[in-house]
Amino acid sequence: MRYTTTVNRLAAEGADGWAVYRRAKEQMASGADIIEMAIGEPDVPTPESITDAAIDALRAGRTNYAASAGEPALRNALAERYSSRLGREIEADRFICFPGTQTALYTVMRGIAGPGDEVIVGDPMYATYGSVIAAAGATAVPVPLHAEHGFRLQAADIAAAVTPATSAVLVNTPHNPTGAVLTADDVGAIGEVADRHDLWIVSDEVYEDMIHGGTPFVSPLSDQRLEKRVVVVNSISKSHAAPGLRSGWCVGSAEFCRRLLPLCEAVLFGNQPFIADATALAISTPSPVAEGMAARFAGRAVRLSERLHEATDLRVQLPSAGMFALVDVSSTGHTGLQFANELLDQVGVAVMPGSSFGASLEHWIRISLTRGDAEFDIGCDRIIAHVNGARP
Ligand SMILES: Cc1ncc(COP(=O)(O)O)c(C=O)c1O
Repeated sequence: MRYTTTVNRLAAEGADGWAVYRRAKEQMASGADIIEMAIGEPDVPTPESITDAAIDALRAGRTNYAASAGEPALRNALAERYSSRLGREIEADRFICFPGTQTALYTVMRGIAGPGDEVIVGDPMYATYGSVIAAAGATAVPVPLHAEHGFRLQAADIAAAVTPATSAVLVNTPHNPTGAVLTADDVGAIGEVADRHDLWIVSDEVYEDMIHGGTPFVSPLSDQRLEKRVVVVNSISKSHAAPGLRSGWCVGSAEFCRRLLPLCEAVLFGNQPFIADATALAISTPSPVAEGMAARFAGRAVRLSERLHEATDLRVQLPSAGMFALVDVSSTGHTGLQFANELLDQVGVAVMPGSSFGASLEHWIRISLTRGDAEFDIGCDRIIAHVNGARP
């Protein structure tokens, strides 16, 4: 049968990136002793207050069709949250609710970039960005993120990549997989480039509430002058340990939301009312779990760094946020992919090769910080033993 060019383009996107993880899962399924440090999921259950709210809403019959832009109570709660975080009024008609950041990203991208358009994005990048841009029919233009700039996207690199075909810059702060958080200066400079070339800025902020320590978070939306060109996407997946509830949103200008709505209605019809109710409750108060997760992940990143520094030549890039740490394995003479395969085969530790997130991480691996402390320590023991040529 014949498939569309979109399906064929996506088939080529990223499948190889998960090969080590897939092998690890197969080995785990057949009972092998594997420490899985590849994937990051919140390390606590969804707070009961949120699941209770969803169950109560279900029992109250909130299984009707939703308003297509999202339930009014949730859009009002989002307006309050963003108004209070940004210190100026962000009206409810500037939000559209989606089942998670991923659908928001997909729909937003389809609304602003199409065939012939280019979208500038930092390399490395979150695993689905290539597919999101390709699904819109546009072309991803990766610009390398440099370790010497803490992997923060640099405006000068964006400016050098802009062509007449550029329609958008896809920003991710805090960033997966590097854990970088853009500074106010970074955001200001990126905004200037976007303004100069009349570009959209799509800002994926799913790790907003998972910042380690006191690093300040600055959204491109905080600059009122950029309001018409910034679209933020976010969800409760990370902040409220609720990735399976699939509840996210986008924030853009009122005009953007109005123009995007027919596209949203072609894909879905708002998010489920009972989940909207639980989300409205979740975002109306500070998350009961985000701070604890951020503290635990920060602690494990430091521990990983200290242990590897003490016993090996591997260098850890300490993340400023999120669930992952990058480790530079170039001192072993191997690529991240070779290292990850050997680590799995020889000592039973699964990590992601950095190259799964972009060519610029060829000599890096990504380690998830979400395993419990005891298991995490065993993982560190095994990595150290592997690098030093000993079996644990
Ligand atoms: C950077 C980034 N964006 C988006 C997502 C997807 O988030 P959601 O569960 O809200 O669809 C993830 C999930 O890991 C992510 O790391």
